[in-house]
Amino acid sequence: MSTTEPILKVEDLVVTYGRVEAVRKVSFEALPGSLITLVGANGAGKSSIINAVSGIVRPKSGRITFEGRDITRTQAHTLVGEGLVQVPEGRQILGTLTIHENLQLGGWHTNDAAAIQAVYERFPVLAERRDLPAGALSGGEQQMLAIGRALVARPTLILLDEPSMGLAPKIVDEVFRVIEEIRTSGTTVVLVEQNARRALRAADHGYVLASGEIAHEGRAADLLADERVVQAYLGV
Ligand SMILES: Nc1ncnc2c1ncn2[C@@H]1O[C@H](COP(=O)(O)OP(=O)(O)O)[C@@H](O)[C@H]1O
Ligand SMILES: [Mg+2]
Repeated sequence: MSTTEPILKVEDLVVTYGRVEAVRKVSFEALPGSLITLVGANGAGKSSIINAVSGIVRPKSGRITFEGRDITRTQAHTLVGEGLVQVPEGRQILGTLTIHENLQLGGWHTNDAAAIQAVYERFPVLAERRDLPAGALSGGEQQMLAIGRALVARPTLILLDEPSMGLAPKIVDEVFRVIEEIRTSGTTVVLVEQNARRALRAADHGYVLASGEIAHEGRAADLLADERVVQAYLGV
């Protein structure tokens, strides 16, 4: 009797900043190849969770397991090498470096030219401008670069922190199309969004965060159909 083990499991995660309890005993998991989403308003604790999972923030308590291994205290650079990669909120590309240099940073630990080539094939606009400063790209193109930089590390698990933030609706469509392609290619996706409706439409499973706690969870389609969730968190 074999059941699929989650690729990522978060149990009773607590993240604090001084006296601020940003994340209070949050638990969730992602099955291999799935797309899960954590949605919630500004300040709900989404980035704190993503940063704890990717080793950027040290949790106060709780346990994080990746591919069956305890990574609660593993540092970000180690996790990148193990295939757990984050696309940070606000893109965080280096505007004075070229597009190519930004992509090289994504694979600094492997110097994987083939992985960069694959990103250029997926995003031709980046290939055309590879020697230009990344700061010259539009917001949407910078988001593609941030995603491309993460893909250079050949992630098995990718965590995206508000990838649609600040982008025009047409570009948001493009970003979501790319996210679904990444998932279709077999990479597990954890998507964090304030754009809850949109994220739930793309996801298999969803968690609604409010004030650092999970208020609702379920199949994404069920959450979208749940009047309580829609009224309280998705706007009418
Ligand atoms: N570095 C920090 N220092 C102090 N408080 C922080 C810090 N980062 C986040 N917070 C606080 O933690 C809570 C959750 O923030 P965050 O995880 O960024 O939420 P979200 O990503 O959902 O907007 C908020 O109250 C925020 O003000
Ligand atoms: Mg955030």
